[in-house]
Amino acid sequence: MSEGMGIGIDLGTANLLVYVEKKGIIFNEPSVVAFDYESGKIVAAGADAHQMIGKAHSKISVVKPLKSGVISDMHAAKELLTYVLKKIENITEKEMGAATVVICCPSEVTRIERDVMKDLAKNMGTTDVFVEEEIKAGALGAGIDIFKAKGVMVVDIGGGSTDVGVLSFGDIVLSKTIRKAGSYVDAELIKQIKKNQKVEIGELTAERCKMDLSDLRESAPVVVNRYAGRDIVIGIPKYVDVSTEDMRDIILPTYEEIVKLIATVLKDTPPELSADIFQNGILLTGGGALIRGVEEFISNRIQVPVRVASNPLTCVAEGTKFLLKNRGNYLVNPLQL
Ligand SMILES: Nc1ncnc2c1ncn2[C@@H]1O[C@H](COP(=O)(O)OP(=O)(O)OP(=O)(O)O)[C@@H](O)[C@H]1O
Ligand SMILES: [Mg+2]
Repeated sequence: MSEGMGIGIDLGTANLLVYVEKKGIIFNEPSVVAFDYESGKIVAAGADAHQMIGKAHSKISVVKPLKSGVISDMHAAKELLTYVLKKIENITEKEMGAATVVICCPSEVTRIERDVMKDLAKNMGTTDVFVEEEIKAGALGAGIDIFKAKGVMVVDIGGGSTDVGVLSFGDIVLSKTIRKAGSYVDAELIKQIKKNQKVEIGELTAERCKMDLSDLRESAPVVVNRYAGRDIVIGIPKYVDVSTEDMRDIILPTYEEIVKLIATVLKDTPPELSADIFQNGILLTGGGALIRGVEEFISNRIQVPVRVASNPLTCVAEGTKFLLKNRGNYLVNPLQL
């Protein structure tokens, strides 16, 4: 076991969070990186690169290294992480080599995706690497003692995927993932506005519209906001009006699907653990848990109490702090590099 520094990485589809032992969360920004086409050098990372989405000129390519919860652009993922750790945090090659790194991932990763994680770690120059499930780290970061003989259900609604898992004695008993979450809702919104109002809005506008107007409560007050886009017929800039009701129609199918996923996992959960979940309720994490009325929406349909973590966007990274602190006990299956 390495005695070097501990680094926890929550490389999400939407956001990258990096935790460094004794320092805390040193990076919490969008998982986006912008390269200069000719030199291949990074021109911006995180929030600065995110602002360039849909706006950069042709000499800059803006890349999101993850799609649907998994790394789809290995080079960009490595460059982004290396930039954050070495340029922003000044961690040397030697320190990287001696560090213990925990990378969080969705619960249903394929072998190929696991191999991608290995490659990523190798590329970063680390050898002591562990891959832990996001829902496990998220529950720990939300302050839940997952090591007791009590069933705990965690639902992580992120940018690229929704993960439902049942934990007991510190590990995942069963879990299911769908590759639908926040980004899917944004894409649906763009599609619907294009179809119904013949206006194309950008990715950043769609996300802002979702955050402004999403409300799953039937009694939610009706609000109408105006967003700028481009008329797809004549090509000129045009405003579109979007209401909370329009937004509800767009988010409902995804959240209904999430409810179905939870129901499927509950159906397969052993009865003793089901009883614990019924008593303790379901914990929601991830940015998608910030949609108004989500607790009532899920609990009304499943008839189980639901609560949102107090830190839904940072709990996974905060959970790595606990895992690294107790690395001798809880980090026992290193990646064979
Ligand atoms: N207040 C909010 N209301 C609605 N959605 C939100 C809010 N805040 C963040 N989100 C959405 O949450 C998503 C990001 O959540 P999170 O950071 O948990 O995802 P991620 O960990 O990067 O993705 P994944 O785990 O799926 O790879 C984005 O789609 C974002 O639009
Ligand atoms: Mg996540």
